Amino acid sequence: MDKEILKELVLPRHIGFIMDGNGRWAQKRNLERSEGHKAGAQAFRRICDYASELGIEAVTFYAFSTENWKRPQKEVDAIMNLFREFLEEAQQRSDENEERGVSIRFIGDKSVLAPDLQALFERCEKQTSSKNRTIVNLAVNYGGRAEIVRAAKRLAEKVAAGEIEPDGITEQSISEELYTAGQPDPDLIIRPGGENRISNFLIWQSAYSEFLFTQTLWPDFYEKDLDEAIIEFCKRNRRFGGI
Ligand code: IPE
Ligand code: IPE
Ligand code: MG
Repeated sequence: MDKEILKELVLPRHIGFIMDGNGRWAQKRNLERSEGHKAGAQAFRRICDYASELGIEAVTFYAFSTENWKRPQKEVDAIMNLFREFLEEAQQRSDENEERGVSIRFIGDKSVLAPDLQALFERCEKQTSSKNRTIVNLAVNYGGRAEIVRAAKRLAEKVAAGEIEPDGITEQSISEELYTAGQPDPDLIIRPGGENRISNFLIWQSAYSEFLFTQTLWPDFYEKDLDEAIIEFCKRNRRFGGI
């Protein structure tokens, strides 16, 4: 993005990405779906780096939903291996991440992932936890409904333990039990891939998000596409119920 233009814009504080269209990208090229995921992982790296360069406070990437387990085992395995690759690389690049101030956080239910993958995620989170320029949330085995159920259970436990009254449950206290606690709600959610739906992504947090649905398939998403999305976002008139 041109530095002069960038200076004039009020950037979104938090951007969500629904990384869709990997399979169709591969299909168009007569490749295996796993090749599409590989290309999608490259797009993820590129946009991650670019968002931190722009100084965006938080970015959330929807990488694997609670519903994606329905896919063939071979495809699920290929996606899980890409997470391994990314996390191992992030560890090797920890100096670079340090410099860029990137903090990587896992959002979703880790408990059913392979133990080595859980350990990799934990190590990576710990290693980057002190950085605070850009938070990168990686949503894996993530579902918005499951996240709300988890928050409800945690609050119910607090009520049962006498720590809070039922009346003490507020929008704020629910937000604080979500994976994204402490982060601003997403201002902008971008879904490439041509589908106009949310597919269980950040359903609580997106109450007042601006949505951008584009035809570009995720592996074809470049820095310039994020520039365009940000410029479009800046043109929107957010009223939050006011006039
Ligand atoms: C998104 O791409 C990646 C995941 C959901 C893991 P898809 O694999 O859904 O790609 P399409 O929608 O089939 O093209
Ligand atoms: C949404 O993509 C989930 C992720 C990008 C991880 P899907 O391809 O799973 O969504 P649907 O099935 O088209 O709604
Ligand atoms: Mg899809």
